[in-house]
Amino acid sequence: MLGQNFLQVNAQGHLTVGGADTVELAAKYGTPLYVMSEDAIRENCRRYVRSMQSCYNGRGRVLYASKAFCCKEICRIAVSEGLGLDVVSGGELYTALAAGADPELLYFHGNNKTDEELAFAVRAGVGTVIADNLPELRRLDAIAGAAGKTVRVLLRVKPGVEAHTHQYIRTGQIDSKFGFALETGEAMEAAVAAEKAPNLELDGLHCHIGSQIFETEPFVHTPEVMMGFMKQLRDRLGRELRVLNLGGGFGIKYTEEHDPRPYEAYMESVSASLKAVCEKLGMQLPFVCIEPGRSIVGPAGITLYTAGSVKEIPGVRTYVGIDGGMTDNPRYALYKSEYTVLAANRAGEPKDAVITLAGRCCESGDLIGENLPIQKPREGDIVAVLATGAYNYSMASNYNRVPRPAVVFVRDGEPRVVVRRETYEDLTALDE
Ligand code: LLP
Repeated sequence: MLGQNFLQVNAQGHLTVGGADTVELAAKYGTPLYVMSEDAIRENCRRYVRSMQSCYNGRGRVLYASKAFCCKEICRIAVSEGLGLDVVSGGELYTALAAGADPELLYFHGNNKTDEELAFAVRAGVGTVIADNLPELRRLDAIAGAAGKTVRVLLRVKPGVEAHTHQYIRTGQIDSKFGFALETGEAMEAAVAAEKAPNLELDGLHCHIGSQIFETEPFVHTPEVMMGFMKQLRDRLGRELRVLNLGGGFGIKYTEEHDPRPYEAYMESVSASLKAVCEKLGMQLPFVCIEPGRSIVGPAGITLYTAGSVKEIPGVRTYVGIDGGMTDNPRYALYKSEYTVLAANRAGEPKDAVITLAGRCCESGDLIGENLPIQKPREGDIVAVLATGAYNYSMASNYNRVPRPAVVFVRDGEPRVVVRRETYEDLTALDE
């Protein structure tokens, strides 16, 4: 299913994840439930590490973009597979540290980091801060100085590359809240400021053109723009910066119509482009970082729900009500994201119905999808939504005071809870 070997159908006709029966998982842990194949996550990490090795001879680092799915266990797994971590808030930073990550391997992002967060990062010894704007550079310099430390920084640059993806997840163009623009001279001004700052060490550049991108062209074009600016910086600063962080963004398969290239293919195209432009400009090949998030965890996860009401409105549509919805997966409400769904308890049967999968919130827009082919729905079905490992748990909310589901990892056929289900007590724990 969706090209993922860990998704199979067993003799009872039940969907299995890495050998674990989803109907049994639903009965044991309750629904809604996020289920992820740890084996698939590890394999994705390894593919990236191997690809980094072959493209750049090991002169690079893969950072897991923890915003895609953040909890202590995923940080431990990424680190154990040799990845660093991209964190974008004090909360993600705290989680990575609580998981025992080496602070040197943390890269701290954010377009509006607070003083408190910057001080936390400096105190914790975060390896690299990706600076987004001039006031932040000034504040970080002061905070580092007060702590008697020098902080390594990359500058987040908008390369002006347009990627064809949803406008909310496009970030490389000049009209973006993230980073320094090249066209206006702002990026150059920031580089000069960082170079002069006594407590900052300007180590390189960062960019991220967007997310869920299928085309190769924008990824291949980006190193050309970035190295062009690196060369201008060499002329201005009199030295070559060491690091080029190219961000994340590789698209994944949510439906059978999606046909992403394997990550290795993107990586090879990008490295070929980078090497060619370095050669052309007479520049050293920088130390390359990439920050995949979605492509590491997205395909590895599914969500299980229990179907309740089936409302057939003749000539209109059939709504299938589930016990979760936008609270555990807001992506349809936000981006009209497409998904593949099935009845996990009858996974071997043909999909002979088309439904709208409706969440449980007091909100008509609370849908997981419309026009979804599925086995003719029945009350009590276990409905599986595939490829929900990224930006689902991490974007979940407690709207309508719905508790967040548990997250179960399956490794070698064995399930275990890595995030427990929220209780009603958790929901009121902060209330005075
Ligand atoms: N690096 C930076 C600086 C980023 O901003 C992001 C994603 C990544 C890396 C990882 O990108 P990925 O490999 O996951 O595409 N909530 C949206 C996605 C927002 C992406 C934000 N930044 C969604 O559900 O589609």
